[in-house]
Amino acid sequence: MTDILKELGDRRAAAQLGGGQARIDAQHGKGKLTARERVELLLDEGSFEEFDTFVTHRCTDFGMENVKPAGDGVITGWGTINGRQVYVFSQDFTVLGGSVSATHAAKICKIMDMAMQNGAPVIGINDSGGARIQEGVDSLAGYGEVFQRNIMASGVVPQISLIMGPCAGGAVYSPAMTDFIFMVKDSSYMFVTGPDVVKTVTNEQVTAEELGGATTHTRKSSVADGAFENDVEALAECRRLVDFLPLNNRSKPPVRPFFDDVDRVESSLDTLIPDNPNQPYDMKELIHKIADEGDFYEIQADFAGNILTGFIRLEGQTVGVVANQPMVLAGVLDIDSARKAARFVRFCDAFEIPILSLVDVPGFLPGTTQEYNGVIKHGAKLLFAYGEATVPKVTVITRKAYGGAYVVMSSKHMRGDINYAWPTSEIAVMGAKGATEILHRKDLGDPEKTAAHTKDYEDRFANPFVAAERGFVDEVIMPQSTRKRLCRAFAGLRGKQQQMPWKKHDNIPL
Ligand code: HXC
Repeated sequence: MTDILKELGDRRAAAQLGGGQARIDAQHGKGKLTARERVELLLDEGSFEEFDTFVTHRCTDFGMENVKPAGDGVITGWGTINGRQVYVFSQDFTVLGGSVSATHAAKICKIMDMAMQNGAPVIGINDSGGARIQEGVDSLAGYGEVFQRNIMASGVVPQISLIMGPCAGGAVYSPAMTDFIFMVKDSSYMFVTGPDVVKTVTNEQVTAEELGGATTHTRKSSVADGAFENDVEALAECRRLVDFLPLNNRSKPPVRPFFDDVDRVESSLDTLIPDNPNQPYDMKELIHKIADEGDFYEIQADFAGNILTGFIRLEGQTVGVVANQPMVLAGVLDIDSARKAARFVRFCDAFEIPILSLVDVPGFLPGTTQEYNGVIKHGAKLLFAYGEATVPKVTVITRKAYGGAYVVMSSKHMRGDINYAWPTSEIAVMGAKGATEILHRKDLGDPEKTAAHTKDYEDRFANPFVAAERGFVDEVIMPQSTRKRLCRAFAGLRGKQQQMPWKKHDNIPL
């Protein structure tokens, strides 16, 4: 028995050493943690249950029969984050460059299947040279199996991808189909074709970092949702994110203890809106002031700053926030902001997370760039996402709610459940100046008449009461009491049930 136990111990120790100390040192030398260190940091201490530690590949080509590292370049299993179950895979770059063989893919598929059966999120830590070249089509088939599971799991369990090394070629499409992608600055990249191919085909000279680094994907392409300084920060932020999410689409988000008075009055909100309607203010201030303990977990903070998306808690319960940001482009809706917010709204709806919309929107951004790039279709994504969402939807209009953007932003007409307006709201087809220029074009040469017309329009529409008279706004509320009103609103909607007509699936404009 002693010998048997020793063999198990030796084999486990060898497996835990991955590609060996020299490669571990090289990994550390690049500022990266090893696959195992990442899992340890991600999960609660001592909670990791590993599977398939001793799996090896079955390839016999190119001398591979002599290279059979236990685990085959990926560590898989489950553990807990603050006591809640998650499934994890972590690719080990020290073993054959973390490349994906048929068996490596099968290990990932196994834990994805278990995650689906047991209703727990999947967190994938990606650090891989891609398809294992020696295995040819077997490797591609393995990727295909993972892709199919990403699709089946979408909307059933949350899927989070951490990119902590190379992720290139078709391999990028697995993370791309997950709900959130986090990248690490200067040590991770994602692209369909690398800089060398780009140079050959398009003659563009670009570094890997410029082409597909964390900054590129969080600022330009919006492929990734967050960029972090190092592995430790990315893993810690992933833990924070998981704390906001339900484990699956049939369970409610976790309710955390909260230490913030529901009735907390924020007098400063009464003066948040500047006298001048064209002067911006920071919508984040409002979010922080209504959230439990001022905690706002922002998603895609570096992309389309004219709309804010992220999670807060009210009375300890997760709420997804979508908010126009007057500080950036006056909070206008455009292609990028509509896409960003639509995806977020759909995530919340898929996972039963109530949605709070904070509205100060002057309309859609005009211009040929927007029209040629399909603002009609992209703007429709947000409209569609709000309209199909059946989770509790509460809206607060703080200032402008003009035109189509008023309707889009979770208005009553898009099945908004409770729609509040601050007394500073202006709900109209457009601003008074624009309206005057169209309605009284013949008087434009006369400043006095123009000013009178503008004032007329302002008096009529630069307030929430016309909408309130029609019931399009449920209540005009004091800014200082917004937190309390929102807590009460969401509390009142906890039992909400709304059915959609039967359909195979909808056809959201893509
Ligand atoms: C087999 C691989 C490998 C791969 C790396 N290695 N990628 N082995 N298949 N895809 C091995 C290397 O041979 C090396 O082994 C070890 O991993 C570390 O790699 P290095 O090149 O020394 O590391 P580094 O200099 O950091 O470069 C990392 C890298 C480079 C940029 C990822 O390895 C690389 O370009 N690899 C090939 C990438 C690629 O073209 N993959 C296929 C993409 S297409 P030794 O023993 O020498 O240390 C794809 C399609 C997916 O993935 C399709 C899905 C449908």
